[in-house]
Amino acid sequence: MAVLLIGLLPALLIAGLAGWGVARRARRRINAIQATLHTLAGGTLSARVIGVDGRGDDLSGIGQDVNHMAHAQETLVSSMRQISSDIAHDLKTPIQRVALVLDRVMNKTVLTDGQEELLIGALDETDRIVRTFQSLLQLAQIEGGAVRDRLQAVDLTDVARDIIDFLEVEADDRGFALTLEAADGETVVRGDRQLLSQMISNLVQNAITHVPGGGPIVVRVTQDRGRAVLTVSDRGPGIPASEREKVLRRLYRLEQSRTTEGNGLGLSLVAAICELHDAVLTLEDNAPGLMVRIVFPDWSQS
Ligand SMILES: Nc1ncnc2c1ncn2[C@@H]1O[C@H](COP(=O)(O)OP(=O)(O)OP(=O)(O)O)[C@@H](O)[C@H]1O
Ligand SMILES: [Mg+2]
Repeated sequence: MAVLLIGLLPALLIAGLAGWGVARRARRRINAIQATLHTLAGGTLSARVIGVDGRGDDLSGIGQDVNHMAHAQETLVSSMRQISSDIAHDLKTPIQRVALVLDRVMNKTVLTDGQEELLIGALDETDRIVRTFQSLLQLAQIEGGAVRDRLQAVDLTDVARDIIDFLEVEADDRGFALTLEAADGETVVRGDRQLLSQMISNLVQNAITHVPGGGPIVVRVTQDRGRAVLTVSDRGPGIPASEREKVLRRLYRLEQSRTTEGNGLGLSLVAAICELHDAVLTLEDNAPGLMVRIVFPDWSQS
């Protein structure tokens, strides 16, 4: 018996080792599939399981299915984006023409007070539609990624200062004290100056629009272990935790904002601009109020 066991030992050892090797390889491939699914679920639809072709086993089959599904999803999303930007593009010009005609009627015709009021209302509406289309087109352009090539060194403090100078009077008129808190010297990020300006402007405009009764609005530019950090905070009603992801979607507005002006595209643009800059955007409770935090990647690593 003992002899038999000793005789079998090498074979058992080899079988055990081979089994362990196969299990380890299978585990690695399952991990790769799981990691890809996780990345896809996070919204990166270009993620694919690598090394699935040609083996013909079960795991390869699952990997290929995941890749097919991701490809179909990516194509669908990109064609939907194309359609929405095509619609925005095609409708922008006729609407602008309508606005021009209304403007001409208003300036070249003698109107009663009632007619003039109606025309002003119609012009406001066309303005709103044109602005919505412009924002949708800009979103499509940012998401298209072409701007990525023009990113260069930009001083975030300088951008924030310019925006604050520009919006200070409007904020003041509406009862807000808009201030900048920044570390001495430059806080440089790799970015697009115009888009970064728009991002800060959208956030400050949001505080001005959605905080009733005025109060402080603080734009802060700091650095944390090599990362530039921008925060914009107010002392208004804030955004409930359950709504913070939803307000980043296009055209989504909180119930309480239905009566204020806007299209629900400002924060979608901010989110797209953050993504373009590989910056992490979070909406937080400023207790009370909203604090928007944007953390840029380490400049020295890029
Ligand atoms: N500072 C804030 N305080 C409270 N609620 C806010 C604040 N900023 C945004 N919100 C809420 O989030 C919603 C979405 O904001 P977003 O900027 O995308 O759209 P909007 O301001 O309504 O319109 P737009 O920016 O297109 O003119 C707002 O309608 C509002 O309900
Ligand atoms: Mg807004």
